[in-house]
Parts: sequence; structure tokens; C-alpha cells
Amino acid sequence: MSTVDLASVDLLGDDAVADPYPHFAALREHDPVHWSEKYRSWFITRFDDVSGAMRDERYSSDRISPYRRAKLDGPGTDPAVRSAFGVLENWMVFKDPPDHTRLRKLLTSAFTPRAVERIRPRVAELADELLDAVTSRGSTRADLISDFAYPLTASVIAEMLGVPREDRERFKDWSDQITGLVFGGMGDPDRYAGGANGMAELTAYLSDLVRAHEQEPADDLLSALISARDEGDALSHDEVISTGVLLLFAGHETTTNLIGNGLLALLEHPDQRAALEADPATAALAVEEVLRYDGPAKTVVRLMAADVELRGRTLGRGDRVFLSPAAASRDPAVFDDPGRLDLTRRQGHRLGFGVGPHYCLGAPLARLEAAIAIPRALQRLPGLGLTAEPLHWHAVLLSRGLLSLPVQFDDAVQLDAR
Ligand code: HEM
Repeated sequence: MSTVDLASVDLLGDDAVADPYPHFAALREHDPVHWSEKYRSWFITRFDDVSGAMRDERYSSDRISPYRRAKLDGPGTDPAVRSAFGVLENWMVFKDPPDHTRLRKLLTSAFTPRAVERIRPRVAELADELLDAVTSRGSTRADLISDFAYPLTASVIAEMLGVPREDRERFKDWSDQITGLVFGGMGDPDRYAGGANGMAELTAYLSDLVRAHEQEPADDLLSALISARDEGDALSHDEVISTGVLLLFAGHETTTNLIGNGLLALLEHPDQRAALEADPATAALAVEEVLRYDGPAKTVVRLMAADVELRGRTLGRGDRVFLSPAAASRDPAVFDDPGRLDLTRRQGHRLGFGVGPHYCLGAPLARLEAAIAIPRALQRLPGLGLTAEPLHWHAVLLSRGLLSLPVQFDDAVQLDAR
């Protein structure tokens, strides 16, 4: 990789999708503030630069409304696409202060540590239900993404919000469709028709659910969002719906990837896996290391709100910038031997959930889910190993996750034998 022509680095090339780290290393070392002609964007890869930019308001998170104004306000735009972007425009992750501050305060008052802690026993139960299903179907093969990580994280956030169990199946289709809108990058609005339909169905569903909760409050997150107050301020009906979509979406795509990437890392490092199996109490620390070693946040996006000089380059106002937590998390200036998975690592610098005003609101929930799910799968599926099938990754710039994680195991440990 050291001889690579840096101008031609393509993070969506097949080899970079399969393993972005050599590409990130080359950029970090030789061109840490990299202009990609192909993506018409900057890529920032050093820990200090990524961390600094995330705390710097000149790197704006407000990137939906400029896009809408430039591309969607004209008469030719499909109204479904326009309203789908209207939902995204209400997401706090795409806002700057003061709008961001307001939404974040209201959401924080609903999404409390208590709400997260309360779901803990259910996470273990749901994980066991899914592993029971895997082990009772007479096969010693499974896909730990579609059979385990995805349904687990989707059920957890749906249950927290108060989505009835019988409706949850439909969320996978909607969520898959919306992924294209969120992770597709801002391009041609025509590409968004499928995502817009999924968003329309999901928002219609949530609108009914919000109305039902308004009439009959329940002890769940949706009711907490409806009644959230900050100095007399409250979320509007549309904001509750948008925030519900945000939580459903943010709440499981990324966490699925953390569980999938974590299980893969452990299957590829038998010594580390043995250490975790010998002492499951170290699961929380293991999750931190997996998040650093191969975390779900490959990049986060900003739009420059001002000209900024960085390492001799000028990021111009309006330029798009990809800040890479994944590249920063393997920066040798911060982490010793960064390419080594070491579950006992105790270095405190973390960027896997971002930092600064947009620091991940769901980090405690994601940590809790992964710290339960990963050891549980290892415990319940003895002899767990990869199959000979090749692994395929989502070919997107923003997130790092497996399309599937095909595994085999010797035999199952039944629940009553634990
Ligand atoms: C391993 C799983 C997860 C990872 C790696 C992750 C990563 C991130 C990152 C990097 C950001 C910052 C984005 C930016 O700066 O632009 C973020 C923000 C956010 N995350 Fe997560 N996340 C995870 C799980 C969750 C979960 C489970 C939830 C909720 C149920 C959640 C909700 C949010 C929200 C609401 C924000 C926006 C915060 C703001 O703008 O102030 N995330 N996440």
C-alpha cells in the first residue's frame, strides 16, 4: 500500500470495502487531509484532526437542508422524496446549534440511563430466544447477522419505543429502504425513490402509533418523547415521528455491525476469544476494543461552514468532509500497535461513538447490547467458527458492517443445560 498512488485511493473499491485499514494507513501517513476528486470531498484520517473537527462548529452537521434547497425544492421533485428528506431534516444528527441543542436536550430527557438499564434483562432474553431458534432448527450453520445481530438490535429498540411485536417484521424492509437515503451520499434525487417509499410507510405507521400513545400514554420511549419538556418547549408531532425514525434506524444498523464485526474479530483471534470466554466479566472492555479495532463508524460527514486551514490544505466553505473514526482509531500516534486486537487494552481515547456535541446518544445502549450479545453467542454455540464462504461487506463510505456472517458450530448448548 505504501507504493499506492494516493490520488487513486478509492474507499469504495472492492479491496477497500473488504479491508479499508491499509488504505486509511496510507492516507493517515502520507496525505492526512486528502482531497478525493472522485467523491469531490475531503477525507481526514488522523486521530487529533478527526477529534478536533468533531468539536469544531465550522465543520457543520447541517447537510440535509442545503441539499434540499439545492436539489429538491424545484417543481420536478417527487413529493415522496421531498417529504422523506423533510423527516431527515428533523434529525438532530443533521443539525447545528441552536436547533441541535434544543432537540438534544429534549431527547436526552426521554432517552435516559434508566430507560436503557431497564431493557437489560430483555436483551439477554431476546438474545437467548434468537439463539434458541438457531440451535433448534437441526442445522449447525447460521448467519449471525440475519439470524442474530439484526433481529436482536431491531427488537430491542422497537421494544423500547413501544412498537407492538407483531409489527416488527415490517421494520426490516422499511429500514433497508431508508438505508439508501441515509448512507447513499447526496447524489441524484432519482435514486431515492425506493427509500422515499419506505420512509413514507414508516412515518405513516409511526404517526398512527404516536396518536395512539398521545391518547393512551405507555411506559415506553415514544410516550417519553411525546411528554419530553425543556423549559416549556416540547417536540412537535412531526419531530416525535422523525425522532422515532432516527432511533429505530440509528438504534440497530450500527449496533448490528458492532456485534457482527466483534464476533468476526474474535473468531479470527482465537487467543482473544479464549480470554473473553474464560472471563465473561471482561465483556465491556472487550466491546471497547472491538469498537476501536473494527468499529461500525467508518466515517461521519460534515459540510464546511467556513474556510479552514488544516495541515497546509484549505478546506473551503461548502466543501464536504469525511471524518474517519475508523482511521483515527488505528492511529499509531495514539494507540500502540494499533492493528493488534488486544481486549485488555486500556487506552482511554475513543472515537467510535464520535465526540463533542454529537457524541452518540445511544452509546450506553449499544455497549450494553454488544456486551451481552457477543459472549452469549460464543457461550451458546460451542466450536463456533467461520465457514469457508467469503465475507461480504456493505459497500458504503459511512459504515463498516458485514452483509452476512456465515458460521458453523459443533452443537448447541441448550438453555436448560447452562
Ligand atoms: C455500535 C453502535 C453505534 C455506533 C458505532 C454509533 C455511532 C455514532 C456516531 C459516530 C455518532 C456521531 C455522528 C456525528 O458526529 O455526526 C452517533 C450519533 C448518534 N447516535 Fe449512535 N451509534 C451507535 C448506536 C446507537 C444507538 C443504539 C442509538 C439509539 C438508540 C444511537 C443514536 C444516536 C443518535 C440519536 C445520535 C445523534 C446525536 C447528536 O446528533 O447529538 N446510536 N452515533
